[in-house]
Amino acid sequence: MEAQENTQKATKRVLITGCSSGFGLMTALAAAKAGFEVIATMRNLKKADSLRKALDEANASVQIEELDVTKPESIASAMEKIGPVDILVNNAGILITGSFLDQTDEEMRRVFETNYFGVVNLTKAVTPGMIERKGGRIINIASLAGLIGHPYNASYSASKHALIGFSKSIRVELAPFNIDVVSIEPGYHKTEIIRANANQSENFYDRSSPTFTWNRGFLKAFMDEIIPRAGEPEVVVKKIMEAMTAEEPKHHYVIGKDAVAMRIVRWLGLCGWVEGKIIRKIRRATKREIAREMEKKARRKKKKAESV
Ligand SMILES: NC(=O)c1ccc[n+]([C@@H]2O[C@H](COP(=O)([O-])OP(=O)(O)OC[C@H]3O[C@@H](n4cnc5c(N)ncnc54)[C@H](OP(=O)(O)O)[C@@H]3O)[C@@H](O)[C@H]2O)c1
Repeated sequence: MEAQENTQKATKRVLITGCSSGFGLMTALAAAKAGFEVIATMRNLKKADSLRKALDEANASVQIEELDVTKPESIASAMEKIGPVDILVNNAGILITGSFLDQTDEEMRRVFETNYFGVVNLTKAVTPGMIERKGGRIINIASLAGLIGHPYNASYSASKHALIGFSKSIRVELAPFNIDVVSIEPGYHKTEIIRANANQSENFYDRSSPTFTWNRGFLKAFMDEIIPRAGEPEVVVKKIMEAMTAEEPKHHYVIGKDAVAMRIVRWLGLCGWVEGKIIRKIRRATKREIAREMEKKARRKKKKAESV
């Protein structure tokens, strides 16, 4: 029975986007180790070293291909090389932090091009092959930010809300073709999106903006309170693997203490109360930032006066 299951797994072809780091890299590795035929894609092949190293250490292998989800020509040429797949994991995503007032139109569109239209376009490219093969599975990596608001990350939150709406809708459209659609909704976890890939909007430090100190207050509260509590990414990867292998996967996987707590808060109708708490936290952090700025200014002034 187990042998039969393994043969079935081995014949399944999995395409994963955004495999240069984080959940994508770890899922590619976990799926390869579990016996899937993995096509790990990334937009910049120069970043493939971490994945290659992890694969070497695990004595596992995957096919690595270039794929930028925001570029139709990149999707087309990748699909030509890859051919039909059984499971698509739409994982690639970006985050640009800063008040919506400071985010440029280009930044907001870039977030949507990656987190929403990238998923839509790749899903459109892959689904006909799944229909031909009489089945498949699409796993979309959304976010807790797609269930609730995410201040100072409005475009990210809006793109993930759009993604969840897309997943819910196409799940019904694709059911007659034996294609499952799963939405993964993690809270904060320790990957590069909150480290090296944590982008700030280009106007984040624009002192003329009315939200200058608020951006900084948010960032301070985020660094002090959210980042240290972020979960371990392995937990998310385990759920993605569950979504890949379960006979009947759940429609949604809400993952992480923060995400589960917010799900309960929503169910209890207490979102307004939580928003109030968040506003107070950001206000306190912003006040501390203003005080720090004023101290810095006073020190500079004193130094200047002393040097005259
Ligand atoms: N970590 C969290 O707390 C968390 C929580 C909820 C949801 N998520 C979601 O999980 C997914 C994976 O993120 P992660 O946490 O693993 O962060 P990550 O380590 O920053 O990984 C993001 C991946 O997406 C890739 N990517 C960005 N733009 C792309 C594009 N245009 N085409 C192809 N690939 C692109 C990145 O490639 P480059 O290296 O080239 O930039 C990177 O490989 C994202 O959709 C994110 O929104 C993360």
